[in-house]
Amino acid sequence: MTDTMSTHGPTTSRDVDPDRLDAFLGGVIGDVGATLSAGLVVIGDRLGLYAAMRGGDPVSTDALARRTGTSAVYLAPWLANQAAGGYVEYDAATQTWSMTPEQEATLADPDSPAFFVGSMELALGVLRDVPELEQRFRTGNGFGWHEHDGDLFTGTERFFRPGYVANLVAEWLPALHGVVPKLESGAEVVDVGCGHGVSTVLMAQAFPASRFVGIDYHEASIVVARRRAEEAGVSDRISFEVADAGELPAGHADLVTMFDCLHDMGDPDGAARAARRALSDDGTFMVVEPMAGDHVEDNLHPVGRVFYGASTLVCTPSSLAQPGQRALGAQAGPTVLTSLLRDSGFGRVRVATTSPVNLILEARP
Ligand SMILES: C[S@@+](CC[C@H](N)C(=O)[O-])C[C@H]1O[C@@H](n2cnc3c(N)ncnc32)[C@H](O)[C@@H]1O
Repeated sequence: MTDTMSTHGPTTSRDVDPDRLDAFLGGVIGDVGATLSAGLVVIGDRLGLYAAMRGGDPVSTDALARRTGTSAVYLAPWLANQAAGGYVEYDAATQTWSMTPEQEATLADPDSPAFFVGSMELALGVLRDVPELEQRFRTGNGFGWHEHDGDLFTGTERFFRPGYVANLVAEWLPALHGVVPKLESGAEVVDVGCGHGVSTVLMAQAFPASRFVGIDYHEASIVVARRRAEEAGVSDRISFEVADAGELPAGHADLVTMFDCLHDMGDPDGAARAARRALSDDGTFMVVEPMAGDHVEDNLHPVGRVFYGASTLVCTPSSLAQPGQRALGAQAGPTVLTSLLRDSGFGRVRVATTSPVNLILEARP
C-alpha cells in the first residue's frame, strides 16, 4: 500500500493488480455463463437436443429444430451458447453444429461413465431452494433431504449412476475382503440410504443368488426404487422399505452398504452402530463417500468446489434436520470417517479403493 493510497478511503486502501483483476474477473464471467448454461443443459437433455446430435454429423439449426420438434428461434441462441461453452462445435463456413465423441459421451450418452447431465439437473434442483437455504444460514436450522425440489432426487440418481455402473461390480466390491465369493454363492445385503436404488439394483443384477434389502427414510424415493427394481426384472430378490438408518434391525447380514449418504445423516455414528448390529460377525460394512482429503486445503480444487457446494446446500442442512445434527459434511475425509467407524464397533477399517470422486471404506467387526 502506498502512502497516497492509504489516505483515500476504502476503495483505494488496497492495491489492485489490473492483470490479476482481469484474470479473476474472467473466471467469474465464466462461472456466470456456466450457471446460466446449467439450465440450458437440462433443457437440451429433456428436449432430446443432444440425443438428436449423436453420431457426429453436422446439423443446421433448422434441421435440428425439425428433428426434435422444437422452435428454431430458440435453438439458435441455445446452440450458440453451447458452442461458446465448448459443449458443441460450430462450423461457420456451413453454419452447422456437431458434437465431438467426448461431448457426446458427456452430454448425450446416459450409459457412458462420463455422462454428466445429472449433475446439472441436481444443481438446478438445489438452486430452486436457495431462498429457503438462505434463511437456514441465519437460523442454523436444517432443511431435510425430503424437503428439496424433486429434481434433486432424479438428478442425484442420474449423477451417481454412471460411476456405479462403471465401478461398483467391477472395482469396488472386488476391493473388499472376501465379499464377492459370498455374493456369488448367496449373501444377505442391506443397502442403507438407497435413494432410487441404483446401487441395490446393480448388485441384484450382478449377483442373482443373493438377496437385497434397500432402506431409505424418504418414502417418495422408495416408491421410485421399487419401480426401478421391477423395470430391471429383479424385484423378486430386492425389497425396498421406508426406514431410518438408525432403526436397522439387528441381524446376520453379510454386507451392509451406504452409498453417499452417511454424511447426510444427523447421527452417522448411530447409523454405523446400527449397521454393525445388522451384520454377522464376519460381515462387511462398505461405506462410499465423496472423495476428499483430510484438510480443507487438500480439497480446494474443482471437484472439492462441487462437493463443498453440495455440502452447503444439501448435506449439511440434511444432517441438521435430523436428530444428532452431526453435520459431518461431504468432505469429511478418510481420517474422520475411519475414526467414526472404529468408534462405532468396527475393529478393522481401511480405505479399500478410490475413484476420482469416491472414497470406498471397508469396515469389519
Ligand atoms: C445423496 S442421496 C444418495 C442416494 C443413493 N444412496 C445413491 O447413491 O444414489 C442420500 C440419501 O440418504 C437418505 N438418507 C438421509 N438420511 C437418512 C437416514 N437417517 N436414514 C435413511 N436414509 C437417509 C436420503 O433420503 C437420500 O436418499
